[in-house]
Amino acid sequence: MMRPTEFRMPQVLLQGPGCLANIGKEVKRLGKKKALLVTDKIMVKAGYAAQVEKILADVQVESVLFDGVGTEPTDVYVEEGLKVYRESECDFLVGLGGGSPIDTAKAVGILATNGGQITDYMGADKVGTPTPPVVAIATTSGTGSEVTKFTIIADTKNNVKMLIGSPFVIPMIAVADPVLTLSVPPQVTAATGLDAFCHAVEALVSKKEQPMTDLLALNAIKLIGTYLRKAWCNGDDLEARAQMMLASTQAGLAFNNASVTLIHGMSRPIGAVFHVPHGISNAVLLPVWAEFTYIAKPEKFALIAEAMGEKVAGLSSLEAAEKGVEAIKRLCRDVEVPPIRTLVPDREAFEKPLEKMAHDAVVSGSPGNNPRFVTEAQIVELYKKAY
Ligand SMILES: NC(=O)c1ccc[n+]([C@@H]2O[C@H](COP(=O)([O-])OP(=O)(O)OC[C@H]3O[C@@H](n4cnc5c(N)ncnc54)[C@H](O)[C@@H]3O)[C@@H](O)[C@H]2O)c1
Ligand SMILES: [Fe+2]
Repeated sequence: MMRPTEFRMPQVLLQGPGCLANIGKEVKRLGKKKALLVTDKIMVKAGYAAQVEKILADVQVESVLFDGVGTEPTDVYVEEGLKVYRESECDFLVGLGGGSPIDTAKAVGILATNGGQITDYMGADKVGTPTPPVVAIATTSGTGSEVTKFTIIADTKNNVKMLIGSPFVIPMIAVADPVLTLSVPPQVTAATGLDAFCHAVEALVSKKEQPMTDLLALNAIKLIGTYLRKAWCNGDDLEARAQMMLASTQAGLAFNNASVTLIHGMSRPIGAVFHVPHGISNAVLLPVWAEFTYIAKPEKFALIAEAMGEKVAGLSSLEAAEKGVEAIKRLCRDVEVPPIRTLVPDREAFEKPLEKMAHDAVVSGSPGNNPRFVTEAQIVELYKKAY
């Protein structure tokens, strides 16, 4: 049954090989003078930061480099970035990198106009004032952060990965240029590609699904099913990289408006406690989530099967849904997703914080969108199963 929905996205999305060259005229339209360029050292080494600085200089916009972001950003990086933003009197932000630099840029923007600590904004709609404009330039095909209203920052005191969501956090200008992803190493290609896949399948089956997000999510599943293995096997394959970037932006738009569900809810505590990269902590949960969830919405899992090239003609929706679960497991195996036990070899150390992790997962709100209801005790069991 159709219900009223809302769909949010950036003001402009530049997409496709070479589109980075076109950001100058879009930035000019912002009417700003000085950018804080938030990035990491790998982006500087690869020459991407210099490329962006040159494009900005060509339209008479100054930039100040902040390359102090590490993977899985924390409140500490945000404070450091904010200090440079204020001292240098910047008036907008450019996030260049994977989700980590883009999320840091968004969080610096929140504090620049709203004040306080980043922990004050954990949850939905706590940001009261618009941030300075953010230009988000993605260099991984994964998080979709370039188009989302979310920033995920670790609270280092409480060991929690905070989900902060507000329409004010959506970047003004999103850039998805696959040429920047040619240098992504295979393991990161797999992890980030499966992060995008999780965004798509979770949005597709979410209780907050809507017709527009279904369209984007299904297309993203189809593209990732076709191109992730190719991009992983041969990083120089620009066609595969371009289709993966399109998929990750589509999946980002899908979950931005339909939310993620149980995988992301369970994945954030793994990242917070064991410092496992976001894409991997999702990927290790994907097969057990699919097995647990498919019976609640077999018609959607049947669509996943079809989008992933499974033959479903003549099958009941439950039979087709089972093929969807198998196709998901095969994709994870093919790009060599490691089991959790290889990431956290000490089983006792893994099991000790599971109850707190299950509690944090539920508190984040994401599991509440899962089509199959789940208790904290069941989440503990799912963690053990994924081990
Ligand atoms: N805001 C959102 O909507 C959203 C959604 C999902 C995840 N996230 C967050 O995003 C973060 C993860 O982002 P990520 O998975 O993109 O990883 P990342 O930004 O942490 O990057 C992973 C590694 O890949 C390197 N890298 C990135 N681009 C590269 C390139 N083009 N060439 C070579 N190396 C490159 C980075 O330097 C880093 O070492 C997590 O903190 C996660 O929680 C945010
Ligand atoms: Fe994600």
